[in-house]
Formats: sequence, C-alpha cells, structure tokens
Amino acid sequence: MMAPARKKLFIKTYGCQMNVYDSERMRDVLAPLGYEPSEQPDGADMVILNTCHIREKAAEKVYSELGRLRPLKEEKADSGAPMTIAVAGCVAQAQGEEIMRRAPVVDLVVGPQTYHKLPELIAQTHRSRGERLETEFEPVEKFDALAGNRKVAGYSAFLTVQEGCDKFCTFCVVPYTRGAEWSRPVDQIVAEARQLASKGVREITLLGQNVNAYHGEPPAGHEADGVWGLGRLLRHLAMIGGLDRIRYTTSHPNDMDDELIAAHGELECLMPYLHLPVQSGSDKILHAMNRKHTFESYARVIEKVRAARPDIAISGDFIVGFPGETDADFEATMQGVREINYASAFSFKYSRRPGTPGASLPMQVDEAVASERLTRLQALLEDQQTAFNGSQIGRRIPVLFERKGREDGQLHGRSPYLQAVHCDAPDHLIGRIAEVAITGSTRNSLTGELDAKASAA
Ligand code: 5AD
Ligand code: SF4
Repeated sequence: MMAPARKKLFIKTYGCQMNVYDSERMRDVLAPLGYEPSEQPDGADMVILNTCHIREKAAEKVYSELGRLRPLKEEKADSGAPMTIAVAGCVAQAQGEEIMRRAPVVDLVVGPQTYHKLPELIAQTHRSRGERLETEFEPVEKFDALAGNRKVAGYSAFLTVQEGCDKFCTFCVVPYTRGAEWSRPVDQIVAEARQLASKGVREITLLGQNVNAYHGEPPAGHEADGVWGLGRLLRHLAMIGGLDRIRYTTSHPNDMDDELIAAHGELECLMPYLHLPVQSGSDKILHAMNRKHTFESYARVIEKVRAARPDIAISGDFIVGFPGETDADFEATMQGVREINYASAFSFKYSRRPGTPGASLPMQVDEAVASERLTRLQALLEDQQTAFNGSQIGRRIPVLFERKGREDGQLHGRSPYLQAVHCDAPDHLIGRIAEVAITGSTRNSLTGELDAKASAA
C-alpha cells in the first residue's frame, strides 16, 4: 500500500502547557492523513491556530494572525492546492460562530473537546470543496481495470460498489487507509453485474467498507434523479436475469435509509440476511467510538428491517475492551445481544491502531479483562447462532450449491441466511438452487435432504 502524499501542517500554539499538549495530539491524529509538521505557514496545506483565552485581547490577536494568513492562503490556492485553516483551542470554544462569520478565511473551528474528530472535520471540509481526502490509489483507475474481463470462479461473486468511509469511528483505520467515501456509477456496476451473470454467477455480494452509504451517479436516462442510494441500486440490479441472489456488506446503522429497508421487503432476490455492526451496547462507549448512533437507535433500525422482512437473519460486529469500557458497559453489550438475537456475529478484542484517535485515549482496558469479556460474549453469540441454525430443522429452504462437499456424493451450498449446508446431491446441481429439507444442524452448518424432484431435474 502506498503512503498518503505528504502534506505540510503548521500549528501555532498560544498560551498554556495544556495547549502545547493538545497541539501534539492534533499532530498525532493528523499524521495518518500524511500531514507532517512544518516550521512556517507559507505553503502549508493545513494551518491550525491553537488559541488561548486567558490573556486580554486574545481574540484580536487571532484575527490579526488570520489577516496575515489570508495572502498565504490565496497564494497556495493559485498554486493549485488549497490551504485549510482551522482555529482550535479556547477562543474557538468561546467564539466559534463569530470566528466563522468574521473571518471567512477560516475553514473550520474545533473546540478542545473534539480534537479526536479533526480528521473527520477535515474530511468534511474537503468534501464540501469537492475534494477527496487522502487515498493511496485512484479508485476510478482501479475499478476500470477491474471492470475489464473478470475471471469468475464459482457461482457466487463479489462486486465492489463503494470504497472508503467518512464515518471515522475512533478505533478504525479505514477512513485513513481507504480514504473518503466514494461510489461507482450505477452503469458501471450494472455492466459488471451483467457480465458476471453471463458467466454463470447466480449470487453477487455488493461490497464496500460502508456499502449502504452508497450514492452513485445514476444510469444514463436517469440524470434528473441525482445520486442513487443503495436501495435504488438494488432494485435496478434485481432486474438482471440470472442473478437469483443479491447480498451486500458491510453497513453502518445510520445509513439504513427507508428505501433500503423497503427493498428488503420487496425484492425476492435480496437475501434475508443483514450484517449490521453495532460494536457495543453502551451509549457511553458508542459515543467514545464516534459511532454517531445509540444502541436504541440501532435497535430501532433492526426493528424496522424486521417489520419489512420478518425472517431476516441479523449479523453484527462487536468490540470489547474499548478504552473506558467498564463492567457495566460490557453488561450493556451482553444485554443488547440478548435483545437483538443474532444469527451470526464477529467479535473482537479492541486493538490499538497507531494513529487512530482511540489509540491515544486514556483508560485502556486491561488485556486479561478484555479477554474474559470476549470469551463471555462469544459464548452468548455462539448459543444464539446454534439456536438459529436449529430453528431451520423441519423447514424446506432453497440452497445454492457451490461445490462438492467433503464427503463423497455430497455438495456444499448456502442457505438464504448464509448458513453452510451439506447435503447428498448429484454434481449437476452445482451452480443451481434446489429445495432442501433441513434435518440437522450444528453451530456452523446445516444438513438436509434433497427434494426427490430436484435431484432428478
Ligand atoms: N480493534 C478491534 N476491532 C476492530 N474492528 C475494526 N477496527 C478494530 C480495532 N482497532 C472491527 C470492527 C469492525 C470490523 C470489521 O472489525 O468490529 O466492524
Ligand atoms: Fe467506517 Fe466501519 Fe471503520 Fe466505522 S468501522 S470508520 S463505519 S469502516
């Protein structure tokens, strides 16, 4: 992976020791975006005035400094690269709105409580100017190369529709390594999906780091629509002949809009399985993670999805041991898991990723405590998964057979709920969907018997 392009960061620190410390933290938080400290503001890509309110006329000093920065910003703009100017510290806290009004040269104002949000605020500023945040590749080129003649192995394929993320969860490297949220145009996706279908693919999984934030250029003839969301894209893809199954992963709760939820109720080919990470059941921890949702708002989204598609299987991601997580916070996660009832889930011990805001948070959780919590959480999630698999016994479900199974005469396939299914079946059913009567289950898979008609077909 290429490192982000180098950018110059100039921070002017006023006042107390606290501000000197904060300036250091801002440097740390911006390093993963490619910002390197610079000694002077000339030619800097980012200038931060970390202000102090203690002295009289502190604000006036800031305004006169901003006056000096203006010609530098104009010069920089003439050279083709913008200079972003931020005011931080106590003056920002006290007079944020007034600064923005009086000094249009300022792009953003950030108070001392929100330094961990700096990367996010910068991304938003860049986006409002139509720029992308730092990325290590040009997605257009990458996708063009991909869209060429794709080799297809098997009957289930991935199709990338979106890259990057603007959410800036404080534990996650994706917004830095993958850059700003970006969506492929609908027409390109449709062309690739058609090509996959023509090669025998029956199931596609739309991929993206934050796939349900999808907002792609509409197809030819629909320009007046403005960008399309994922729900609209799914409806469109559902019409492609030969594609029997569509899935998407992975999503953020705040991007589950009504059209996407409705699609789950309307599209037969949209599989009844949703991977929707919540990470924690504690609102305090969700806030520290900068998730921008509460557990309650997450639960409400799940409720709406279930109302649209009652048999949907819910999957999720969890992090235990995030800095500041107490026993009570962890119990809230356990309670949340009981409330939602997951069909499957991924759970992780928090791991400090250098450069992310979470890595420099105080109150990192003891390793042994985090391990013990993970064990308990995984036991609960495994119980739920086992129960969900068991609930399929006695049902007849359509299985997409993908390949030969481990035992002779057996095929391996997937249920609509993404469960692995093992079943005695003839080889000619590979690449086809057939009804299977489920007779047995374990934590990780189902077994069943093929409908006699299906095996003869
Ligand atoms: N530590 C632990 N888990 C993490 N994840 C992402 N970053 C971290 C980290 N620093 C998990 C989240 C996410 C999933 C893909 O990986 O749960 O949803
Ligand atoms: Fe984005 Fe997901 Fe990472 Fe949060 S966890 S920053 S939503 S990719």
